This record gives sequence, C-alpha cells and structure tokens, in this order.
Amino acid sequence: MKTIIEPFKIKSVEPIRFTTKEERIAILKKAGYNPFMIHADDVIIDLLTDSGTSAMSAKQWAGIMDGDEAYAGSKSFYRFEKQVEKITGMKYIIPTHQGRASEKILFSIVGGKGKYFPNNTHFDTTRANIEFTGAEAVDLLNETGKHPEIRADFKGNMDVEKLTEFIKKTGKENIPLCMITITNNSGGGQPVSMQNIREVKEVCNKYDIPLFIDACRFAENAYFIKKREKGYGNKPIIEIAKEIFSYADGATMSAKKDGLANIGGFLALNDEDLAMKCRNLLIVTEGFPTYGGLAGRDLEAIAQGLEEVLDESYLQYRIRSVEYLGERLVAAGVPIIEPPGGHAIYIDAKRFLPDIPPEQFPGQAIVGSLYVEGGIRSVEIGSVMFGKYDEKGRLIPPPMELVRLAIPRRVYTQSHIDYVLEVIIETFKNRKNLRGYKIVYEAPMLRHFTARFEVI
Ligand code: F0G
Repeated sequence: MKTIIEPFKIKSVEPIRFTTKEERIAILKKAGYNPFMIHADDVIIDLLTDSGTSAMSAKQWAGIMDGDEAYAGSKSFYRFEKQVEKITGMKYIIPTHQGRASEKILFSIVGGKGKYFPNNTHFDTTRANIEFTGAEAVDLLNETGKHPEIRADFKGNMDVEKLTEFIKKTGKENIPLCMITITNNSGGGQPVSMQNIREVKEVCNKYDIPLFIDACRFAENAYFIKKREKGYGNKPIIEIAKEIFSYADGATMSAKKDGLANIGGFLALNDEDLAMKCRNLLIVTEGFPTYGGLAGRDLEAIAQGLEEVLDESYLQYRIRSVEYLGERLVAAGVPIIEPPGGHAIYIDAKRFLPDIPPEQFPGQAIVGSLYVEGGIRSVEIGSVMFGKYDEKGRLIPPPMELVRLAIPRRVYTQSHIDYVLEVIIETFKNRKNLRGYKIVYEAPMLRHFTARFEVI
C-alpha cells in the first residue's frame, strides 16, 4: 500500500505567524488560560475546532462568486435544497446560519418543561438549547463508548436497552423526539453503526417517537460504516448516507463540518406541520425560508461542499490523517480515546495526568501546556465544558476528562501533523511539571467559552 496523499493541490495559502515560547506564556496568561480567548494570529496550529475551518475548493470559491443574492427564491437556494434532498431524502429543507440555529428553532417548538430528549451524547449546544426551554437532555451512550481505552468499531452507538427502559420510565408522551449524533462528537468522534440506527428506529417506531439525526459529520460516519460494517464495503458513500437518513424523521445539520463550508446549516424534516412551525420561527429569527440567515453565496458553497464531501478519496484521506496522528500518539504511550474518531483525536486527560483531580481540570492543564510548548490550540472536553455543581457547590464531573485536537478539513499537511505529534509527545514526557487550574470567572451557561482560570 502506498502513502495516502492529500487528494488536492494547494492553490492559495495563508501564512502562519510564529511566536516564541516566552510570548506564548504571556499570551496564555492574558487569555485567562482559556484557548477561546487567544487571538487566532497568536496560534501556530489551530486544532480548536473542525467547525467552519475547512479549506474551500476552487469550485466552492467559484460558487461564492456565482451565488444568487435574491431575497426570495434564489437559484442558490434551489441548488442547496436539491443537494440536501438528494442526501437526506427529506421533504422540507430549511436553511439556517449554523447548526445551533436549527437546534434553537426545533427545540423552541418541541421542547419545554417536562419534556425529555434522549441522544447517544448531546453536543453542548444541543444540550444548551434543550435545557434553555426547560426540558432535559439525556445521554444514553453504550457502555463501551465511555471507556477511552477499549477499542471497538462503533463506540458512538446508543444503548438500545437503556433507551427502551428510559421511554418506559419517562412515558412516550414526554419524549417529543429521540436524537442520534453522528459521529458522536462529545464521546470522541466515534461512529454509530447502521445496525444501531436501525435498532433505535425500531424502538422509536414502537413508541411512536420521531428519530432525528444530528448530522454534522454524516459523511465521516458513512465512511466508517463502509469500512467497518458488514455488507457496506462495496456501497457508495451516498447510498450509505441515504440509508442512514431513511431511518430518520428529521435532521439538524451544521454545514460547518461535513458541508465543507465556513458557515451554514439546515433543518431537514418530513413532517409538514412541524416544518411550517419551524419556517414561521425561522422568519422571525433567521430570515426568509429560501436563505435562512445565509447569503446566497454561502448556500452555493454548501451545496458544492456537500457534493465534495461524498468523494471517497477525500474521506479516505480525511479519516486516515486523523488515524495517523492517533497511531503515533499511541505508539509513544500517550493515552487517547481508541480507536481515533473521524474528525479529532481526544487525549485522555485522566490517564495523562492521573495526579490532577477533575476539580483542578486536568484537560485544561494539557490545553495550556500544548499552547505554551508549540502554539497548538486545542480544547478541553471534560469538567470545564460539562461539569455541574451539586447543592453544596461541589463539582459533579462528567464521565471523561478529554482534550480534543480537532483537525480542520483540507487545511493542514502531514508535516503540520508531525509537528503536532512532536509537541504532544514532548508535553507528555514533561507531564510531571504540569499543574492544575482553578476557575476565577464563569458564565451560567456554556461557561467554557468565556471562563477564566488561574494556575494552582
Ligand atoms: N452538533 C454537533 C455534533 C456539533 O459538533 C456541533 C458543533 C453542533 C451540533 C452545533 O453546530 O457550531 O454550527 O452551531 N460543533 C463545533 C465543534 C462547534 O467544535 O465541535 P454549530
């Protein structure tokens, strides 16, 4: 087997500004040890997110010029709608400015006090949008998915038995819909199998609960199904994607991921009445139903991106480049969620820093150190992002303490990734010198974006 090369040539480049370690120590301190507060030009390799950070193709940029900016009935909308319909098979396609706008609209309508929404693992914005309506977001991830060190093919699967129990206990009338997030971002970018989606759908059907897909990384998930699930090896990605959506009654999507675009999203629905309610709310909050908070050019770029993302040589390179980083980290003894997920590597901070307890945010300590050592920006997914407090104000930590290194699509080459490897391995060797953090400021919701820390 020959080296899997980037399936593109580079036509336009963006320079990287280099900083010294001394500069980075000062920058991090000024940012309150929060990577969201660092200016992007002070970052050498930005692995904060794979969201909206894709390099667009020449054809997408051409689409930007070709976008039709008509307020109503733009031709770019119809191209976008056709492409989303082709993939999802859904009847009503509602553009939004990004994924959480779809969530906001959907849950404003179906949420509310006394309602419950199960998912394999809710992403933080999904959870926040549900909780904002007074409803509860419930994670029903399968047990294997909670153990970073166990290797399994589909660690994003929902626990179907727990789902059944949950429905019986809660009452189907209190569950307006069930969700599955593909791939499971908060649980390590792990895929969900077709069989699991089918089984969840059967349970939902039995209790008459609609199934929704959080489709942000549907193409990556489809590629994992092709590679790992029996019976899919010879199927084109588009066919796998269509089958996934055939089990769903609706989907929320952030086109900033597998749409290969810098902004955008959509809600795809089959229920006419719900679609009408969503469109009415869309008009108040996002815009007219044929642009939904986006410019015509964005719709054009998304439509093109949704074609390119189905290309198998792209997906092979994409999944392999993340796996390459994971493989080498494991070889160096760095604990990560295994096997590597689709869009990111997740360092297991509990095993990386066993002496720093969750109350001192071991993940955040690693994030700080990777920045200081190599100008690499990553993000904590652990007690900072998902921690809650009990009545006595003590931290209730989530099951895992992780650091996510999300790989932007088509942006970095193998030598960038080799540099990232060197920095992580060096930080791992010096891990005894890392210290925990304490929070000195936090907002009531989604605190990780704006919290400030001090080193203990
Ligand atoms: N669902 C999942 C699974 C996500 O990963 C995201 C965003 C959203 C919904 C919300 O989409 O950002 O367009 O509003 N994830 C980004 C990330 C922010 O870094 O993982 P959005």
